[in-house]
Amino acid sequence: MENVLQPREIEGIVIRRLESGDFQKGIIELLSTLTKVGNLTEEIFCRTLSFMNSRPNEYYVIVFEDLATQKLVAHGTLLVEQKLLYEGGKCGHIEDVVVAKNCQGRGIGKQLVTFLVNLSRELGCYKVILDCKDEIKGFYEICGLEQRFVCMAKYHMK
Ligand SMILES: CC(C)(COP(=O)(O)OP(=O)(O)OC[C@H]1O[C@@H](n2cnc3c(N)ncnc32)[C@H](O)[C@@H]1OP(=O)(O)O)[C@@H](O)C(=O)NCCC(=O)NCCS
Repeated sequence: MENVLQPREIEGIVIRRLESGDFQKGIIELLSTLTKVGNLTEEIFCRTLSFMNSRPNEYYVIVFEDLATQKLVAHGTLLVEQKLLYEGGKCGHIEDVVVAKNCQGRGIGKQLVTFLVNLSRELGCYKVILDCKDEIKGFYEICGLEQRFVCMAKYHMK
C-alpha cells in the first residue's frame, strides 16, 4: 500500500504526504483559504504532524507541491475510520480539501479528490464520505461523488 503513497510527479507537481518542512512551504496560507487556522505555530504544527505520523494507517494527509516555486498548491486528508459494522470494515472520510487561490480552476482540485477517493478504495474502505457547502456540491459531483443524506453539526467553538 505504501506504493500508492510514494511521492509522484505530474507536470511539475509532486503528490506526497505532508512533511515537517511544509511549514515553510505555505501550509498556513493554503489552509487559510479554507477556514480559520488560528495561531498555528511551527511547534504545534510539528507536534500535530508527529501525532498523525504515529497513526499512518489512519491519517493520510496529502499535499501537492509545485516544484518550480516549492510551495504547496493543494491539501486534502483521507481519514480512515475502523468500524465494527460491515464485518469490521473501514470508512474513509475526506477532509480539508483546498487548492491555493492562484491555482484554482486548473483541474488540481479534481485530481486531488480523485486521488483521495482512489486511495480509500485501495485501502479497502467500503465507502468514502465528506461534508461540504451547497455551493461546492457541483465540484464533488464532477469528481464522481453523489449527495446522500444530510450533514448535522454542533460547533463547540466559533
Ligand atoms: C473547491 C476547490 C477545491 C476546487 O478546486 P479547483 O482546483 O479549483 O477545481 P478544478 O479546477 O479541479 O475543477 C474541476 C471541475 O469542477 C468544477 N468546479 C470547480 N469549483 C466548482 C464549484 N464550486 N461548483 C461547481 N463546479 C465547480 C470546475 O469547473 C471543473 O469542471 P470541468 O471538469 O467540467 O472543467 C477550490 O475551489 C477550493 O479550494 N476552494 C476553497 C476551499 C473549499 O471550499 N474547499 C472545499 C471544502 S468542502
